[in-house]
Amino acid sequence: MRYAKTVLLMGGVELLVRNAVASDARALRETMQRTHAQTDYLLSYPDEQSGDDEQEARSLEETERSGNEVELIAVVDERIVGSAGITAVGGKRKVGHRARFGISVLQEYWGMGIGRVLMETCIGCALRAGYAQLELEVVADNERALSLYRRAGFEEYGRNPRGYRSAAAGYQELVYMRLEL
Ligand SMILES: CC(C)(COP(=O)(O)OP(=O)(O)OC[C@H]1O[C@@H](n2cnc3c(N)ncnc32)[C@H](O)[C@@H]1OP(=O)(O)O)[C@@H](O)C(=O)NCCC(=O)NCCS
Repeated sequence: MRYAKTVLLMGGVELLVRNAVASDARALRETMQRTHAQTDYLLSYPDEQSGDDEQEARSLEETERSGNEVELIAVVDERIVGSAGITAVGGKRKVGHRARFGISVLQEYWGMGIGRVLMETCIGCALRAGYAQLELEVVADNERALSLYRRAGFEEYGRNPRGYRSAAAGYQELVYMRLEL
């Protein structure tokens, strides 16, 4: 799915939100590598990133062509500072109404409203794609993310006390959330 829009954040910072394209593959992978090293709240470790730049480029091309998935990047001063996306829960017709949401922003850009813009844009894309429900899972003590999701209208529908097992923190409880569209 294609998308591009520039918004002005508080303090006059110009933020470009657009769908990632094949030529973003390397820079996006570098940003993902950093965001995954900066937090213990994401599913994977930096060394678990799959594929290489070429595979990433092909996957971004496919996502851009798709009518029901999107990979958005947040660009400040021509630098990719975060990303967010929606993916279909599955290919079967009975779950065709459900999409998953994921997001990460470089730590030095937290608290500027970039997360909120990415989240709202993804919700808009999910509506455009015709989904009826957006879903996510979040570590229970990830206050910043929980605040973002609650404000967008996501509601908790369950928990898994042993959702993740972090090398640093041990078991992490996961909160399952959903937004009816
Ligand atoms: C979660 C994340 C995407 C938020 O991005 P961000 O750009 O900082 O988001 P925003 O600036 O829009 O702020 C998000 C919320 O955090 C709140 N916030 C700001 N500082 C905070 C703090 N110190 N503690 C708790 N909440 C805080 C903001 O008020 C905002 O809530 P609101 O929408 O109710 O006002 C970002 O912190 C991140 O990438 N974290 C690591 C990866 C991650 O956890 N991803 C989500 C996995 S489920």
